[in-house]
Amino acid sequence: MSNHHDTSIGILGAGRVGTALARQALKAGYRVRIATSQPAADNALLVDIVTPGAVAVESSVAAASDLVVLAIPLHKYRTLNTHALAGRIVIDAMNYWAPVDGVFDDFESDPRTTSEVVEDFLPGARVVKSLNHIGYHELEEDDKAAGMPTRRALALAGDDAAAKAFVTNFIDRLGYDAVDAGPLAAGRAFQPATEIFTGSHTANQLRALIEKARPLADAA
Ligand SMILES: NC(=O)c1ccc[n+]([C@@H]2O[C@H](COP(=O)([O-])OP(=O)(O)OC[C@H]3O[C@@H](n4cnc5c(N)ncnc54)[C@H](OP(=O)(O)O)[C@@H]3O)[C@@H](O)[C@H]2O)c1
Repeated sequence: MSNHHDTSIGILGAGRVGTALARQALKAGYRVRIATSQPAADNALLVDIVTPGAVAVESSVAAASDLVVLAIPLHKYRTLNTHALAGRIVIDAMNYWAPVDGVFDDFESDPRTTSEVVEDFLPGARVVKSLNHIGYHELEEDDKAAGMPTRRALALAGDDAAAKAFVTNFIDRLGYDAVDAGPLAAGRAFQPATEIFTGSHTANQLRALIEKARPLADAA
């Protein structure tokens, strides 16, 4: 893998998660580009103030990064530029949380996990579900150096092994242990309202919870 200072992280969404993640990725030494559905020029000032060091870009430019993070409200996933995301390694950090965001048929009537629905919408994208089960403020507070016994772990799930390896390295540089939960469908184990989603865990704890949830994922 090339030096990570040359690695570009494109973040779609400049809200709570997008800006916290941008700062944490900058701290880790990445090149960060951030975009919303608005023109880059409209975001330039906000990005300079809130995430100094990141660059406000058009969403198509953010999507052309080495790693792209989806940090937009899930019900807006159909506004994503499918063409620009084809072939990209994409972290889906989005959650379906009906009590807060409202009820959406796309997810209510589909037995799959939300990330599988999103992957289906993004042909050729190498989708990895992760970063969805940590609060945006915790992302900048709970990081620890590798090897510390109390280091917090984050789960990931996906069907592309190379994409998962890339994301594992990214999560580690952000200050967290990465735990592979298995295929994208296994992300069910860390969707909202699960034990993993609502708590904070070390790698060993997280592995045990993923193991416990496996029959649930297999039955779906
Ligand atoms: N809040 C948390 O602690 C937390 C933690 C983990 C995961 N999540 C998940 O992360 C996602 C973002 O949450 P949030 O709290 O950061 O939301 P938020 O504060 O509402 O920010 C959403 C951002 O997405 C942008 N956006 C909307 N459509 C877009 C598009 N097509 N392309 C690029 N940007 C677009 C919005 O800007 P414009 O509307 O101007 O485009 C806005 O900057 C949600 O799915 C949420 O479930 C949240």
